[in-house]
Amino acid sequence: MKNGKLSVALAGMRFGGAFVPIYMKHPDVCDLTIVDTDKQKLNETGDMFEVARRAGSLDEVIADPSIDAVHLVTPIPLHAEQSVRVLQAGKHCACTVPAATSLEDLFALVKAAKESGKNYMMMETNVYTRQFIHFNNMHLRGEFGKIQLLRGSHYQDMENWPVYWNGLPPMFYATHAISPLLAITGTRAEKVHCFGSGTMREELHKQYNNPYPAETAIFRLHNHPAALEVTRTLFETARAYTEGFSIYGEKCTMEWNFDSEPRLHKLGSANPASRGRPTVIEGISVPDYADLLPKEIGRFTEPGIYDDTNPQLSFKTGGGHHGSHPHMVHEFVRSIIEHRQPWINAVRAADWTAAGICAHMSAMRDGDGVTVPEFE
Ligand SMILES: NC(=O)c1ccc[n+]([C@@H]2O[C@H](COP(=O)([O-])OP(=O)(O)OC[C@H]3O[C@@H](n4cnc5c(N)ncnc54)[C@H](O)[C@@H]3O)[C@@H](O)[C@H]2O)c1
Repeated sequence: MKNGKLSVALAGMRFGGAFVPIYMKHPDVCDLTIVDTDKQKLNETGDMFEVARRAGSLDEVIADPSIDAVHLVTPIPLHAEQSVRVLQAGKHCACTVPAATSLEDLFALVKAAKESGKNYMMMETNVYTRQFIHFNNMHLRGEFGKIQLLRGSHYQDMENWPVYWNGLPPMFYATHAISPLLAITGTRAEKVHCFGSGTMREELHKQYNNPYPAETAIFRLHNHPAALEVTRTLFETARAYTEGFSIYGEKCTMEWNFDSEPRLHKLGSANPASRGRPTVIEGISVPDYADLLPKEIGRFTEPGIYDDTNPQLSFKTGGGHHGSHPHMVHEFVRSIIEHRQPWINAVRAADWTAAGICAHMSAMRDGDGVTVPEFE
């Protein structure tokens, strides 16, 4: 730390590039080092944002004692191993989703975070969207009443993406659909039944020994009466990309698919005698919540030009998954400065990721119940 500010390294300049301007402008960050094994991508991004500190490997960053924290936005198979190495090197670590693709790696991650005493945060975008912030506030004010059922979905065709995606079990990347609902209910998944669905060409079975292009699961929650239903599609299924989550409550229901405005279903009257009569359905316009952020990074909740002085340096991130990017960065940075755990610490990250891993285990056993382990 220099003068109470952090030196941060950001690894993986494809999706990770969206976070460069946010770290550069964050008031608690003194400098940023960008990292990529692809020299061309590294220099393209470095030149675009005028980042002086560049590294061609994670090892360089790990060996540099001036760096306090590393944010990984690298390919999925590297997440767990790289996170553990960063923590064991005595640095704070943020990592994009999923935290890992096996239960063993999740236990190793939780152990490394605990033993290092450093912060680990899984950077789950869908619990920092303006929609999540809004519906979580509604829940805290009791506006849904009892939560009776939860439903999450994530449809995305990952054909022709980097090779590590080929044949990935759909539930290995289910955190966008699962996390908001475990977060709202403040609990973890305890047990899951899941069925694989559909068929896909043999070539896609090989990498992960997974025959399913789609999986659909039902989770029993720990100490909460609602069930959570989640569906994921990844291959050979023609469905435009959307993530969504819905909360079915006693007094109000919210349904949201990423590409449309959320809708609320409300009772037509507060009088219990009128229950069962037509429900009122209304669209809802959610506020931006940029006011929760320091002014230097509040503008990153919206797409646009981020450097007025030099339009050449402008970068459009599409608003960063419904405004989530600056909120995630802010939580990671402030948790370190304030010497506290981030909200999505290693245990919570393991809970949310393990739910999907166990769902796939159930699908491979034709829907047998699988108990999700505890990480606390
Ligand atoms: N909403 C979300 O949270 C969200 C959205 C998109 C992607 N992701 C996650 O972000 C990750 C990256 O996605 P992407 O689409 O940019 O992937 P990608 O594979 O296209 O890009 C990964 C980048 O990391 C670099 N890289 C590879 N190995 C490296 C290493 N050892 N050290 C440093 N750099 C290395 C590559 O050269 C490349 O530039 C994925 O794991 C994905 O799961 C999350």
